[in-house]
Amino acid sequence: MNETFDVKLSEKHYLPDPRFRETAWTPDYTAAYQAFLADPEAFWDEIARELVWFEPWDRVREWNAPYARWFVNARLNITYNCLDRHVTSERRDKPALIWRGDGGEERTLTYQELFEDVSRFARGLVSLGIGKGDRVCIYMPLVPEQIIAMLACARIGAVHSVVFGGFGAGALRTRLNDASVKAVITADVGYRRGKTIPLKEIADEALADAPSVEVVIVLNRSGSAAKPGGDREVDFADLMERSAPDCPAASMDAEDPLFILYTSGSTGTPKGIVHTCGGYMVGTYYTTRHVFDVKDDDILWCTADPGWITGHSYVVYGPLAAGVTVAITEGTPDYPDPGAFWKMIQDLKVTIFYTAPTAIRMFMKHGEAWPEKYDLTSLRILGSVGEPLNPEAFEWYYQVIGKSRCPIVDTWWQTETGMHMITTMIGEPMLPGFAGKPIPGVVADVVDREGRPVPPGTGGFLVIKEPWPSMMRTVHGNDERYCTYWNTIPGYYTAGDLAVKDENGYIMVLGRADDLIVVAGHNIGTAEVESALVSHDAVAEAAVIGKPDPLKGNAIKAFVTLRTGYTASDDLTAALLKHVRDQLGPVAVPSELEYADRLPKTRSGKIMRRVLKAKELGIDPGDISTLEE
Ligand code: WT7
Repeated sequence: MNETFDVKLSEKHYLPDPRFRETAWTPDYTAAYQAFLADPEAFWDEIARELVWFEPWDRVREWNAPYARWFVNARLNITYNCLDRHVTSERRDKPALIWRGDGGEERTLTYQELFEDVSRFARGLVSLGIGKGDRVCIYMPLVPEQIIAMLACARIGAVHSVVFGGFGAGALRTRLNDASVKAVITADVGYRRGKTIPLKEIADEALADAPSVEVVIVLNRSGSAAKPGGDREVDFADLMERSAPDCPAASMDAEDPLFILYTSGSTGTPKGIVHTCGGYMVGTYYTTRHVFDVKDDDILWCTADPGWITGHSYVVYGPLAAGVTVAITEGTPDYPDPGAFWKMIQDLKVTIFYTAPTAIRMFMKHGEAWPEKYDLTSLRILGSVGEPLNPEAFEWYYQVIGKSRCPIVDTWWQTETGMHMITTMIGEPMLPGFAGKPIPGVVADVVDREGRPVPPGTGGFLVIKEPWPSMMRTVHGNDERYCTYWNTIPGYYTAGDLAVKDENGYIMVLGRADDLIVVAGHNIGTAEVESALVSHDAVAEAAVIGKPDPLKGNAIKAFVTLRTGYTASDDLTAALLKHVRDQLGPVAVPSELEYADRLPKTRSGKIMRRVLKAKELGIDPGDISTLEE
């Protein structure tokens, strides 16, 4: 992108009930932000002191761009803060995890039980020769053991690399080899929508070509009589049984790696994002408390699988460090029917619900009748993450699910940032379509290619200007790739997203910079056109791509899925195109519109525009290992 561009901003906003503000951990955003700016180190120092450290830090932060160290020379263990800290308090018998399986079965683990299971498994890992710095891959379905495995690694200082259980053998193999993984923890099967997923079979296919792996621990989920085969295989339950529930939390340097998590770039091989023990703990703890505003009696349900960063930060580490009850499910939102998630909220009395726009748009497609069957009055706060939350989806989420009662936190962040970065803090006015402002602790801006801030209403690059505790420290085995985040616009962290600010500093995220289409010299964000389409009653989801055009440089092509009750027709096409014209003007009107039954998405729910584009142009789509079936 060479120049900045103009964006139409709406001024519609919602004010939350003032009571939210009165009880919030950050009751006054502006004051908190100013306090942070006045002394950033003191700001983070104060938060870090709420947690338990084995040794204090010499300095809060050391910054030799692009390399940061946080809580220099401090020692800690994140699991001490997620478990030990609570079992010595009245939280001991409080549920830490409430799990629901694909078939509706339920399991609850209190903090004490989770502490014991993690200790046992950690002890077991040590008995197998796994220790500090060893890489351990966790390839499991969403069961409590997946979280137990993560925490057990962290307890002994082994570096986990969780690979989402929906990935195939090729994706798993790449990740095993990139991190030279020593041990793999998996399960014989997973369950999804009533079907059995042969996880172990897939793992075996990857393991056939993963020479670094010495140990494979297998959870027997199906109850099959089959015993682990081969001399490197160990049964999960056997290992638990023969290990005592005591394993002291290893003393880790704040800068020791905690985990590697792969994120797919638009090109090339996946990047192993490295996060460290101290900064990541402080960042996720702080944001769980202050962005979700968790209180001791909250039940937090983040619908992400722990195999994604959203799950790492807001299913596992942040919520457990904050000592709240976490709800999780292996189930899917529309199985056995589209009321499944609303039933879970009703049954477990979920108070904080955090999901993705793709799920919200799917719920919209199925209609209001489903959520209306269930009692959702336990809900207090709603969250969104992963993609821009279109104004239309915001309104639906706010009114139909939150009954105009629950603030929505649309949280912008990335695998690389580790924690929430931009959102509207509880109590502040909410603007549909805008994620909000940088949270206290974060300095973000929208700038042009030279790093100059652009005026309100003008689009540009989203950057972070100062280091933050939970920032990634490197890309595993490829530091050069890490440096490109900080070199693209020198001195700043470039997120790769396009955004625009309004007069009050609210930030609207427009989508990835590579999703920009230049039509007849105008920059059009795919997200803008998609939002316009989705705001039409007939449209469930939309994806927009650019196609080379001899006249305009690029032409816009839209792919649309319809809501239940609508059928494709030429009249509808004309109406949709007119609708975009009315909303955005003639330059943004697609020259082609195609109806689809579904759109290609990553397993984490992001629309893969480059797959549509490759298909359209008959070219190679590149790495599609993250594409859902
Ligand atoms: C990219 C990061 C960490 C969250 C899960 C995805 C997009 C994320 C928002 C939001 C608009 C968003 C951005 C970002 N994104 N949250 N609230 N509004 N866009 O993590 O796979 O590392 O993807 O997701 O494009 O760069 P990820």
